[in-house]
Amino acid sequence: MTDLLQQRFGSEIQAAFARYPAGREKSAALPLLYLAQAAYGHLSTEAIEEVAQLIGSDSTHVRGLAGFYSLFLEQPHGGFVVQYCNDLPCALRGSEDFLPVLEEKLGCKAGATSADGLFTLECVMCLAACDRAPMAQINLDYVYDLNPESLDLLVTELRAKAASDPERRAPFGFGPPSEMK
Ligand code: FES
Repeated sequence: MTDLLQQRFGSEIQAAFARYPAGREKSAALPLLYLAQAAYGHLSTEAIEEVAQLIGSDSTHVRGLAGFYSLFLEQPHGGFVVQYCNDLPCALRGSEDFLPVLEEKLGCKAGATSADGLFTLECVMCLAACDRAPMAQINLDYVYDLNPESLDLLVTELRAKAASDPERRAPFGFGPPSEMK
């Protein structure tokens, strides 16, 4: 069993536990999963096992919990995770037609990560912003009213951000607020 999470975020783990009564360590599962994603890069088997051990649970339960949330990522991913909505309202506003444009600009197909490791593209169900369809979520930010021109501009801006801030190339993760990108 690895202890990368404890090595990197020992004090943050204790702070998460301190929010709950003694004996209720399982209540800190979600904060610890955020930290584990930052520590390991994604929620690998090792990451899940370490969280399970810390909260006194089993890894199947923790895996099931993580699987419920779309921003917990079980596979290696890029610095920018693009969750592109192609549910019905967005599709009616052109998201299906625009997807090939986005794939070409990012350099990867939906469900894949670009060869340079910068982008992961996922098609997702409704993100509850249908009034501004088509839309996408990029890491923690929503972008709205997409069309081929705005997608082109958006990807150009993301590449420029990555060029000026090499940390942006690291896998998108969660951690203490100061570490959230
Ligand atoms: S269908 Fe895309 S945000 Fe609702």
